[in-house]
Amino acid sequence: MRVSELKSKIVEEAKKRDTVILAHTYQNPDIIDIANITGDSFFLSQKAKDLKEKRVIMCGVRFMAESVKILSPETEVVLPVPSATCLMAEQISPERVREFKKNNPDTAVVAYINTTAALKAECDVCVTSSSALKIVKALPNKDILFIPDKNLGSYVKKQIPEKNIILWDGYCPVHNKLTKEDIIELKKEHPEALFAVHPESPEEVLEHADMIGATSEIIKFAKSQSGKVIIGTEIGVVDYLSTHEENGERFIQLSREKLVCEDMKITTLNDVYRAVIGEQGESIELDEVLRKKALRSIDKMLELG
Ligand code: 13P
Ligand code: SF4
Repeated sequence: MRVSELKSKIVEEAKKRDTVILAHTYQNPDIIDIANITGDSFFLSQKAKDLKEKRVIMCGVRFMAESVKILSPETEVVLPVPSATCLMAEQISPERVREFKKNNPDTAVVAYINTTAALKAECDVCVTSSSALKIVKALPNKDILFIPDKNLGSYVKKQIPEKNIILWDGYCPVHNKLTKEDIIELKKEHPEALFAVHPESPEEVLEHADMIGATSEIIKFAKSQSGKVIIGTEIGVVDYLSTHEENGERFIQLSREKLVCEDMKITTLNDVYRAVIGEQGESIELDEVLRKKALRSIDKMLELG
């Protein structure tokens, strides 16, 4: 089947089955084309809550499908490729968090949204990369354990020196590969360009940024500029901007070799097709007690943010 035929078939079959296709911006461009809703992970899980359709295909990694299920337990949430996982989301075990809390009852545990449902259930509050600063500031606790991303955690720590923030040694293996030389070299080629970067990147890279933010914030910032913008996040963002915006060539990818998330790219159109027709994929199931505990951490984030 030709790609265009396969795309039409997916759209047709999804419609027939009252199924909505959600895709994170880092997905392959062909999947972005056929998705009903695209965006960052928390945005997608919130959008899913308001759908009248009770079946969604979540094109992304496991924690994203879990987040949709936490917020919409009545919806069937299918992850097309069950092995698609965020390598940062499991870099600390729920048992370790439980033990830490037992020994440090006055320390708030703050978990980045890129964590498993089991970790969300153990923490006190979740944060997205865009809400982390506001939420950590709003917490009454002086002592905070920030899991799992040391880069996002150290960015927050630097901005809020009045708090004692303990960092976990986790990181995104994609963004963490960036070095200051990557941006210094590219800036020599494009000295007039602004630099927007994801806070999962190391501090030495963030130091060169004109803007630091989550996927959706980077897109918004890049669109709002008229000149060149160097983008320091997964290649899906530049692929999206260069095909959906006029003067697409003004968006410049920082290190196309390093900034590819294999787990985000593993899902193909064929996988989505087979998931839509019910021949492939995992329907996410969460223990109800765990789901409610995880939801509490997300609700707390919404309350504070
Ligand atoms: P966003 O929430 O910014 O989309 O981040 C998702 C992600 O996986 C970043 O690497
Ligand atoms: Fe996880 Fe990094 Fe991939 Fe995002 S880019 S899904 S944080 S491994």
